[in-house]
Parts: sequence; C-alpha cells; structure tokens
Amino acid sequence: MMHKDDTLDPIRVGLVGLGTVAQGTLTVLARNADEISRRIGRPLVITHVGARRDRPEVDLTGIRVSRDLMRVAEDPDVDVFVELIGGTDDALSLIEVAIRSGKHVVTANKALIAVHGNRLFQMAEDAQVMIGFEASVAGGIPVIKAIREGLAANQIAWLAGIINGTGNFILTAMREEGRTFEDVLSEAQALGYAEADPTFDVEGIDAAHKLTILAAIAFGMPLSFDGVSTEGISRIESIDIEYAEALGYRIKHLGVARRTNAGVELRVHPALIPEKALLANVNGVMNAVQVHGDAVGSTLFYGPGAGSLPTASAVVADLIDVARVMTADPTHRVPHLAFQPSAVAHVPILPLDDTRCPFYVRLSVRDEVGVLARVTRVLADYQVSLESVIQKEGIEGQPVGLILLTHTVTESALRQALHVLAAETFVHGDAVVLRVETLGAAS
Ligand code: HSE
Repeated sequence: MMHKDDTLDPIRVGLVGLGTVAQGTLTVLARNADEISRRIGRPLVITHVGARRDRPEVDLTGIRVSRDLMRVAEDPDVDVFVELIGGTDDALSLIEVAIRSGKHVVTANKALIAVHGNRLFQMAEDAQVMIGFEASVAGGIPVIKAIREGLAANQIAWLAGIINGTGNFILTAMREEGRTFEDVLSEAQALGYAEADPTFDVEGIDAAHKLTILAAIAFGMPLSFDGVSTEGISRIESIDIEYAEALGYRIKHLGVARRTNAGVELRVHPALIPEKALLANVNGVMNAVQVHGDAVGSTLFYGPGAGSLPTASAVVADLIDVARVMTADPTHRVPHLAFQPSAVAHVPILPLDDTRCPFYVRLSVRDEVGVLARVTRVLADYQVSLESVIQKEGIEGQPVGLILLTHTVTESALRQALHVLAAETFVHGDAVVLRVETLGAAS
C-alpha cells in the first residue's frame, strides 16, 4: 500500500550479526514493512548486512552482504547502523566508527552499554546522532521508553525486576517440573535465550548489565556497572525452592535499584518473594520490572525477556524512533495516533454478536427431574457445548443455581439459546452471563 509520505527517501539500515535477534529483526522488518512505513511516513529498508560466515538459511536477496563488518559501519549509504553481534570488543569498535561517520546506532548489547555507554553516549552527543538500546533490557518489554518518557514526571524511588529470561526459565522449570539446573539451562540455550557464555545469565552478570542501565535512566546517574553487587542462582537447589514454597514464598532472581538519602543500592541476587506478589508469578522466560514513582505509585511492566522476535520487537521500535527523528519536521513528529495521519485507515468494527468466547452462565432453576436435560438440549440446538456444569444443593421448594461454563461460542448463539430458556417455566429470573476472557488464546 502506498501513502503520500512514501515519496520520502527510504531510511537505509545496515545490520551486523545474523544470530537469533538479527534474524528476528529481518523477519519483523519484512513482515510488518507496510505497517512500519505507515508509522514513520517513509519506508525502512535493510541495504547492507555484515556477517562473518555464510547463513544460507537467511534470505538476503537484494541486500549487499559483507564479510568484513567494518564495511557496514563505514558505508556512506547506510543511515542507521544496527549492532547485533554482542560482546564488548568488536561491537565497540564498530559502533565508534559508525558514530564517527554520522550514523545513528541501534543495539541490543547490554554489556556494551553498561560498560562503555558513558563514553559512547558522549560520542553520540558530539556527533549529534542517537543510540537506541531498548532491546538491551528485558527483551521485548519497552521498559526503557516507559521510564524515560512515560514516567518522566516522577522521582523514581526504586525499581525491582526479573531481568534475565534464562535464569527465570531455569528457576521456573526447577519449581514446576522438578528438573535439574543443568537440564533446563541446555533447553534455554537451545531456545536462543542464553548468552553466548551462559555464566553471564546464571551468575547474574547479564542482569547486572541491565540493572546498570535501568538505574541510570531511573535516577539520572552515570552507568555504574562496577557498583552493582552481583550474586547468581547457580547455588540454588530444588530443596531451597521447596522450603521457600512451604514458607509461602517463591525464589526469584531480582535486580534491585533503590534510592535512599545516602545514595543508591544496586544489587542482583536471588530473593524470596511472597507468593502472592505479582513478581512472584512471573514465570518461564518472562521478565517484569516494577517501578515505583512518587507520583504514579507502583507500576509493573511485563513481557518476554529474551528470544528472537520479542527482542527484535524492541530493536525495530528503536529503528522507528530513529527514523521518526530523522524525518522530524512539524508534520513528521511522533504522530498523535501512532501512525502518520495520511496512513490512518478505517477498519470494520465487528458487532458484539459475532465475537466468540467461552461464557459463564448462572441460571436459577426449579429443582426437578428433566431440567438439566432440557437446558443442555436447548443449548445444543444452538451449538453451544458445555465445558462444565455445577448444580448447587438446593432447599426443598426453592430455586437452585445451575452454573454452566461453555466452550467457545458466538455471543449470538448463546443469547438465542438463553432467550429460549428464559421462556421455560422452570427458569426463575434473568440468567447471569459473564464472558470468559481467554487473553489472546485462539478461540
Ligand atoms: N540472555 C538474556 C536473558 C537474553 O536470558 O535474559 C536477553 O537479554
């Protein structure tokens, strides 16, 4: 689909790395190209990829490919340099060259930002370019944007988060499935969650990198990786998880940054959390960061903390941010409705009757033979099938509650069936009807 603003030149992106996150980034950029250009007001295209080895499984048709990654950083035909190789040596040199040659930078590299960020941000200021690093913390959760922009009115008192997906995946599987640490770690590696050196995950170094970044943007302090006290999860045994549970707690690996009158606490360590706390129920590869601001109170940001597409979601969001800044003029600011005004498109709004979900229905019925059979027959006439039925014990002569949980059905089918049932003499009063929200599960 073409839009008025597609007449602007495309933003040209150079990408180094073709690992898990880079492949996700290519997928998202290709899959959502139209929607992305509707948001920015111009296309975003990968023009140059740097990869040290062949990756026949990745389709790079029409894209220039260099074995020498520096060629991408130096390429004058690249506007934005995306670094997805990880590590702090080559990545640092590449980003320095990209900045010096006037390119904006997007990176998922938390180690690099935590350790060299102070200097890189200074360089970027001098060169008047942006460095986007949303993907460096908590995978797909836009927590950096939330703290930096959405919570900008607040003094942040503290934040605490589960910010390593691999570690949380391991602790969850140990608790829920009784598996061993080593067994679950291998699976996390196979799924592309773990760092190249997984001791970064299990010894808390990865979480310390991320906490360093969160603390800097929350408190307005320099990145201070050396100041983080760090303890990993490798000494936790299943028995500790069981004892904690018996006491009403879950063990989670937390990063905590807290402002006190004397300074800030920066710490990463396993901790017992009351089992009812929201953070205690963040499981698997999911991450969550709780941020407490003086105006807003407590907020919680939750989502996938690692993995190809979730991390790519944050990389591409940064690319869109950079592209919007490059396009900035009074008509190309971040649009009020997220998409460029010329790209806002009407879509049909579906009638409630056509929506599908399971339903909870409570009928008040006379307690007599044949009632349940008649109810289920009427429901079946309208293709409403039941997941479960509960009939409450009644008092002689009084109506009883008949509670039905349906499978997924259309609203109109259920309403028609209930309309027929309402005319039955054994039904008292109106049915109580509640929708069961399956939160995105296919229905
Ligand atoms: N190894 C990291 C994790 C990847 O498991 O959280 C995402 O930063």
